[in-house]
Amino acid sequence: MSGPLEKRSWAEPFKIKSVELLRTTTRAERDEIIGQAGYNTFLIRSRDVYIDLLTDSGTSAMSDRQWAGMMLGDEAYAGSENYYSLEAAVREHYGYRYLVPTHQGRGAENILSQLLIKQGDFVPGNMYFTTTRLHQERAGGTFVDVIVEEAHDPTSEHPFKGDVDIAKLDRLVREVGADRIPYISLEANVNMAGGQPFSMANLKELHAYCKLHRIAIMLDGTRAIENAYFIKERERGYQDKSVKRILREMCDLTDGATVSAKKDLLVNIGGFLALNDEELFRRAQNLSVIYEGLHTYGGLAGRDMEAMAQGLREAVMESHQAARIGQVRYLGEKLDAAGIPIVKPIGSHGVFIDAAAFLPHVDRDQYPAQALAAAIYVEAGVRAMERGNVSAGRDPNTGKNRRPNLELVRLTVPRRVYTQAHMDVVAEAIVRVYAERDRIGGLRMTYEPEYLRFFQARFEPMEKRRPA
Ligand code: F0G
Repeated sequence: MSGPLEKRSWAEPFKIKSVELLRTTTRAERDEIIGQAGYNTFLIRSRDVYIDLLTDSGTSAMSDRQWAGMMLGDEAYAGSENYYSLEAAVREHYGYRYLVPTHQGRGAENILSQLLIKQGDFVPGNMYFTTTRLHQERAGGTFVDVIVEEAHDPTSEHPFKGDVDIAKLDRLVREVGADRIPYISLEANVNMAGGQPFSMANLKELHAYCKLHRIAIMLDGTRAIENAYFIKERERGYQDKSVKRILREMCDLTDGATVSAKKDLLVNIGGFLALNDEELFRRAQNLSVIYEGLHTYGGLAGRDMEAMAQGLREAVMESHQAARIGQVRYLGEKLDAAGIPIVKPIGSHGVFIDAAAFLPHVDRDQYPAQALAAAIYVEAGVRAMERGNVSAGRDPNTGKNRRPNLELVRLTVPRRVYTQAHMDVVAEAIVRVYAERDRIGGLRMTYEPEYLRFFQARFEPMEKRRPA
């Protein structure tokens, strides 16, 4: 008999046309591999991974229509047809007037930060994202977290943990003055909080506040469509509105967006900056030629832009989002039912394990989430990633570890790639690791790169694993 969690009343709105074979390894091999990788799952070769939940970025499966779009690639250096096709799709679905394609999300973040941030400025945001904050800092700004307090509590069931705390924002405005705040960086489905949405009510309030103080709202729309789906599910008054309509309503309340198309938009590479202000757009196009490429390709091939335009049309389909978010929820509910501490509510792009609660015996300075991600890999060949102390990095002014409240391991689910059976295998592996959690010890960092250290840092165990 299957319990309520095993039952699901929907199925994927696609069938599989092409498959990629998986390779398995032995535990002895994985023990060796994790050591060679310095206990950092980013440094493991993909051939040594069985189920890859490192990220949902660029890892999704494209549809036959997207692949067909690749054949329509117009690889002219200037004025590619695919640029105009993407521009039309962005105008239709997000509603922004002007488009600057970029090689991926951080390319757009670089341009936006350079355009708007002056030395000594402050950039408030609903929790940091690694690359976004780094570009803000490199442009001379200081990031200030203004997310609601509930976002820092993994057990809070607040339905909109991505909301901005307007009182926190107001405190900053009073302290430094609105003229030193070029924009608020508003992330949809806040990644570092566990994939948590903001509500439309909060965005409306924010919009009114920012209008009054002449502060722009720049959306990180990387997972805006997933956020729109949550609004439809959870916010009063939105049940009967389409995800498409909610997305437009959301973007209409903002001044522009940076987007990593490698997530919502179902492509393996790509991103863009979208703006409404013509003068700003001209300047963004001009910066694009320094960092990305000519303004009609921005570091992408024409075919990539066509795949992105088609991916956008598929991403706003509710059947797609229901299956995508439903699959993540299926995995999360299984772990929750087994008593594994996870971030609640379950987010859109992955299940986030509360590593601090999972490994209470490991000191925060010995990187419990990093150690747990390594242990999950050794147990089952499942690749997850750290989202805690290592990802947060050091404060640029004091040089000290930032030590965020959330110390998480992210099981990120690529879109349209794995089956429910894969999710079962992952859940079973995590349950086995949990049963043996006392045997997992902390790590020490042996190599720390200057920027975004989580990608390339190396670690070793504080002590050899205790015998069973
Ligand atoms: N904004 C958000 C919210 C992101 O999640 C990412 C990337 C970016 C911006 C940067 O985009 O990678 O295309 O340059 N997130 C990936 C992840 C890396 O694994 O969460 P990018």
